[in-house]
This record gives sequence, C-alpha cells and structure tokens, in this order.
Amino acid sequence: MATINDNYLKLKAGYLFPEIARRVNAFVAQNPDVPIIKLGIGDVTEPLPEACRAAMIEAIGDMGDRATFKGYGPEQGYPWLREKIAQHDFQARGCEVDPTEIFISDGSKCDTGNILDIFGKDNAIAVTDPVYPVYVDTNVMAGHTGEANEQGKYAGLIYLPITAENNFTAGIPSQKVDLIYLCFPNNPTGATATKAHLQDWVNYAKANGSIIFFDAAYEAFITDPDVPHSIYEIDGARDCAIEFRSFSKNAGFTGTRCALTVVPKTLKAKAADGSDVELWKLWNRRQSTKFNGVSYIVQRGAEAVYSEAGQAQVRSLVRFYLDNAQIIREQLTAVGLQVYGGVNAPYVWVKTPKNLSSWDFFDRLLQACYVVGTPGSGFGAAGEGYFRISAFNSRVNVEEAMKRIIEKLDV
Ligand code: MLT
Repeated sequence: MATINDNYLKLKAGYLFPEIARRVNAFVAQNPDVPIIKLGIGDVTEPLPEACRAAMIEAIGDMGDRATFKGYGPEQGYPWLREKIAQHDFQARGCEVDPTEIFISDGSKCDTGNILDIFGKDNAIAVTDPVYPVYVDTNVMAGHTGEANEQGKYAGLIYLPITAENNFTAGIPSQKVDLIYLCFPNNPTGATATKAHLQDWVNYAKANGSIIFFDAAYEAFITDPDVPHSIYEIDGARDCAIEFRSFSKNAGFTGTRCALTVVPKTLKAKAADGSDVELWKLWNRRQSTKFNGVSYIVQRGAEAVYSEAGQAQVRSLVRFYLDNAQIIREQLTAVGLQVYGGVNAPYVWVKTPKNLSSWDFFDRLLQACYVVGTPGSGFGAAGEGYFRISAFNSRVNVEEAMKRIIEKLDV
C-alpha cells in the first residue's frame, strides 16, 4: 500500500484561518441571522486599482489576437515586469537588485514554503513567536521538526519571542542558526524593524553563514520614513538574504495572485561536499521545473502598479486601509484596551483584557459583537493573551465593528 508523508500527522488540527472559519461557521449555523463582520484573515476588500484593471483588459485583448497571443511565459516572469520592479521597488531606494534576480510568482505564501526545496534537511531554523504560521507548518511538512508540545511548539525549531518588552522585534539568538524567518512590517504584531536592528541581523547572518528569509509583504504600509522597506537597504544583505514581496496587500491582488521573490546572485550556501553553491541557480532550476509562471494578463496588471496612475491608486488604497487601522487603534484605545501596530502595518495587535486567553476573547467578540478577529495564540505560544484585528475591510464595516465593541463588549 502507498504510504504518506508522516510529517503531516505532526501538524496541529487545522491551518489557523480555516480553523477560525470552522468556528465562525458553527456559530452562524446556530445563529443564522447575525450580521458577522470579519476582521480576521488579512484579505483585501476594495476593488483592484483602475490602472491594473485597464491593463488586464488590454492584455485579454492581446490574447485574442494571434499576433499578440501569449502561450507559456518565462517561468521567472516577463522581463518588462521584473525590470519595473527592480527599478521602482529596489534601485529607487538605493538597493542593488538586478531584474534577473527577481522571480515572479503566484504568492509569497507559496514561495516562503517552496524555498525550503533548495535547502538541506539539517539546517537549524529560527522563527519568531508569534509568527505567520506558514513558516512553521511548511517546515513541519518538510520534516524539519519533531513533534509539537502542548503549547504547539515544535521540537527542533528555535523560537525567538517577540513581545511588548522587545518592541516586538526578534532579539539576535545566542546560538547559531542557519535559516531565519523575519517579517517586517510584522504579521501579526504590526511592528517594524529599524535599520540598526536589521543591520544586527545581517551582521549575525554573515558571521554565521546563515540565510535570512525576509518577508516584506507589508512594506507598502510603512509610513515612517526611517523604516527600511527592503532588507537590501542594509549593508551586506545581498550576501545573506532572500526577500519575498507581494502585490496582494498593496494592490489588492489576493484573488488575482502575483508576488515576487528576490534571490541575489551573490548568495551562497554549502553543498554536502563543502563547496559553495549559488542559491540563485537552484531557485531558478526549481522554478523552471515546478512552476510555469504567472499568467500574462495578471503580470500586465501588476506592471500597471508602476505607472503614474497605478502608483497614485495604490497609495490611496494603502492609505484607506491605514485609516481603517487608525480608527481601530483609536476606538479600542478609547475603551481601555492596550493596542500595538496599525501605524506602519494593516494589523492591530491587541492585549486581551482581564487576562482572557486569546480564544476566550475570540469567542466573546464573536458572541457579543459578531466580530471575527484572529487569536494571538494561533500565531504561536507567545501570542497567547493577544488578539489580531485586521484593517482589511470596508470603512462601514470597520466603523460598525468598533461601534459594537464599544457598546457590547464588556471589558
Ligand atoms: C493573514 O491574515 O495573516 C494573511 O492574510 C495571510 C496571508 O497573506 O496568507
């Protein structure tokens, strides 16, 4: 009989967001008429920018004419998109990133999991706690961990707590780690990292031969001019970091799917025989074999993000969600809750009142206010006692959710 990948049996019951959906559906089944407002998963609600839609419509026209029709595109993405990204997102900030080092993909979630394909089994892997659960679960699936303990921590992973005490930025570990996941602006806490902090990480990685997986999916939400948008703004990062970015949150592509991963050609890791191997070559090989690229139509839509109109439209979309975040911050603060994040990020990280557990607060919010958020403990043991509220929703829903919390939540 065929056998399974037993590592999947180590995974906790459900991926966080499906588990939330399951609980919400059960509540709705019992209370079919309640008007639920979802501020849980960070999924966008506002329409795609006009510039992106127009470009996609034009691209559909190209597909209807033999002269401009496109079949398989380059697995790495079309050069015209990679060039725009290199120029606007990196070179304009003084970062040395060549278009050929940019790989277009259908999502950062996929890429942060898939990147493990090109790394060995015996790396010491560090994640923050709390953390975006994909980083942990994909390592479990790949067999890089042992079993989880009762707190949900997996044997073999190194957890770096990010708490109010360290401003939600991961301290440099005392032991040697080979792979480190950093996400700034941070999901779930909404915290940012300073240049000096990232420099410490890059120095550590270079000294230890480690690779940083830098998830910058939320960089567009940075409002503070001193906060770096890319790890490549940091000296030496080209020798130790891979960066993941996405069009999901800035341009509303969660359903459209387009993202990118930067693998500098200067980045190397060791082969079993001790030789240094370029990671770019391995990732290029992996993508050419397992991926057929993002559709031409979607890449044209993503390219339009960099037009003058597209830039203005994306800015106002991001501003819209940041204004939601500000409303959430202000209203929750006014009812006496301690809030973090939400200034350079679309997530507000809330300390649960009266020492309620994260899931107890989730239930209270759902049952009393019909509002759904994300329990902090779902992001890791150190997220216990916290709760994440996403700013991705319509203004009407955000205002209504806050009104219900003020009127109905007994905190
Ligand atoms: C989240 O809510 O944490 C995000 O939507 C997850 C994602 O982008 O995959």
